Amino acid sequence: MSRLVVVSNRVGPVRETAKAGGLAVAIVDALRTDGGVWFGWSGDISPEGTHGPVKREEAGRISLLTIDIDQAAYDTHYAGFCNRTLWPIFHYRLDLAHFDRELERGYWNVNNRFATRLFPLLEDDDVIWVHDYHFLALGSKLRTMGANQPIGFFLHIPFPVPEVFTALPNHEALARAMLAYDVVGFQTRRDANAFIRFFVEEYGAQVTEDGLLTVQGRTIKVGAFPIGIDTDTFRQFSLSPEANRQGKRLKTLPGDRCYVIGVDRIDYTKGLVERFRAFSKLLENYPENRNHVSLIQVAPTSRDELDAYIEIRQELEQITGNVNGRFSDLDWTPIRLTTRPLRRRSLAGLYRACRVGLVTPVRDGMNLVAKEYVAAQSEVDPGVLVLSRFAGAAESLDAAIIVNPYDVEDTAEGIQRAVIMPLDERRDRWRQLFSKVQGEDIEAWYSNFLGALRATARKAA
Ligand code: ADP
Ligand code: F6P
Repeated sequence: MSRLVVVSNRVGPVRETAKAGGLAVAIVDALRTDGGVWFGWSGDISPEGTHGPVKREEAGRISLLTIDIDQAAYDTHYAGFCNRTLWPIFHYRLDLAHFDRELERGYWNVNNRFATRLFPLLEDDDVIWVHDYHFLALGSKLRTMGANQPIGFFLHIPFPVPEVFTALPNHEALARAMLAYDVVGFQTRRDANAFIRFFVEEYGAQVTEDGLLTVQGRTIKVGAFPIGIDTDTFRQFSLSPEANRQGKRLKTLPGDRCYVIGVDRIDYTKGLVERFRAFSKLLENYPENRNHVSLIQVAPTSRDELDAYIEIRQELEQITGNVNGRFSDLDWTPIRLTTRPLRRRSLAGLYRACRVGLVTPVRDGMNLVAKEYVAAQSEVDPGVLVLSRFAGAAESLDAAIIVNPYDVEDTAEGIQRAVIMPLDERRDRWRQLFSKVQGEDIEAWYSNFLGALRATARKAA
């Protein structure tokens, strides 16, 4: 079997860890099976940047190969074009997007530099899999250097409809660069269709029913490859002694408590402000929940050098203070907000101990927390998932209570339905959800994607 080379901005950590972020968790699972190389940023900023040595670390059958970047590259690429331009646009937040030619140049530069450093490390029969919006253009640079291995690309975040994508200055260059890949994968059918529609409307592309897109002399495979979790392992985590201990910590709190849990990086896409308002509305509209229902929000900070992230954190702390000030009692706190990272077993234990899983992003590629919450539930007495219609996960997890996160009344009502849902209905919904989470698990994700990618190699041979 040909060697798999994975490329992503963040590399590792490989071992069970408190790292927040869906991409790292998914890639480790994918690489662990057959082994391979994982290439990307070391996480370090140094004066020599991408010109410095390739750092090597072996973790079982996975070789981690990383390079540094310099401060200017960090500012224009990761903290610049990636997270100030592409991230907001791809999440439909044109109002937050910065358009700046210098950031754009930095982005192309870093893509070119990473491709240049990767190229000599490649072997002829490698299969290369590039991940996420940090490296949309890396494949095209590899091609100009002469790489003719199969190269696939998977976008972990949403792909916006053409009406939004075309607001990005020079979007044509980025889109054309993506044609260098043999397979371009998205989280949902909706995202794949948005990408296809862009090429059909702007370039007159031809597309077949099985997703072969022909445009500008290239034919590439475009499809939805919904990412999943390692369902069985995560379920085992939820039964571990560590998970049990975590669950018991909640039970030792006074009173007859019902817990609602949210787990998200602090990010404006996660709908946290709207969620806290909805929880406040729940206590207002359904007063029987006071002194009874608490929201536990686990929210590790992320990208905290960016203004939009600092502001959202402050806003959350303020709303938490307001809601707690307004409703709390001597022995009851409505919202508990913690920014601490947790080990995965502890997280699984928390999910299992909470009656409601609240996953209400205003836009999200997939959202693995929704799947983890389902996987961790007890079959006998399962909790209820309340899920935003704007999470990619809603495309398959339609047995959840689906809410519109912009509508605080609707979300409050959704939480209320979950809190009072009879056991039979909880079991019935959970069975449907669990079977979807099991069917679309991490293995299905990477084997479907790599199957499609390897098939392109066979065709070319
Ligand atoms: P994103 O990739 O945008 O961060 P996802 O929901 O797809 O969102 O993935 C988040 C991942 O990070 C999940 O696997 C979740 O368990 C993990 N995670 C989030 N918060 C924490 C935390 N505080 N401690 C440990 N893991 C976390
Ligand atoms: O899933 C989207 C994503 O940007 C991943 O690429 C990343 O690992 C995760 O969210 C966390 O973001 P960051 O790497 O910027 O901390």
